[in-house]
Amino acid sequence: MKILVLHGPNLNLLGTREPDIYGSMMLGDINTKLIELGKEFDADLKCLQSNHEGALIDALQDARTWADGVVFNPGGYTHSSIALRDAVIASGIPVVEVHLSNVYAREEFRKSSMISAVCVGKIVGFGWRSYELGLRALIDAIRDKSVD
Ligand code: DQA
Repeated sequence: MKILVLHGPNLNLLGTREPDIYGSMMLGDINTKLIELGKEFDADLKCLQSNHEGALIDALQDARTWADGVVFNPGGYTHSSIALRDAVIASGIPVVEVHLSNVYAREEFRKSSMISAVCVGKIVGFGWRSYELGLRALIDAIRDKSVD
């Protein structure tokens, strides 16, 4: 099984960016934990981060050629990007949306997501463990699909 873990804008600053909201774990440490967890399930992970909408779209388009699914934190683009929503649909593979913070307990604009309705599911509010839960859920969803 091959999985893309895709991080959107400003997530490269994890660890130093608003640690009271996003925690003190650095992005590289989160990726390392996810890669280790993936190994337990025979899943190979590729982790990418970009601050650029077009690069995220390119990564989703490319994923359709090699990945079985995507764990995706679209960052601030979550709330605005129709182009990323379209790219999730076009990928044709299951995508799980994740957020470190509980977006429903924050500003009003964070409650809306352009992405959620085209994902298999969404995990929010558990800090870096949102990624871990998202990865487990994605692996289960891919496995369920393959035995259908
Ligand atoms: C975030 C939530 C977004 O609203 C915010 O713009 C981010 C991070 C999260 O992981 O909690 O950049 O996606």
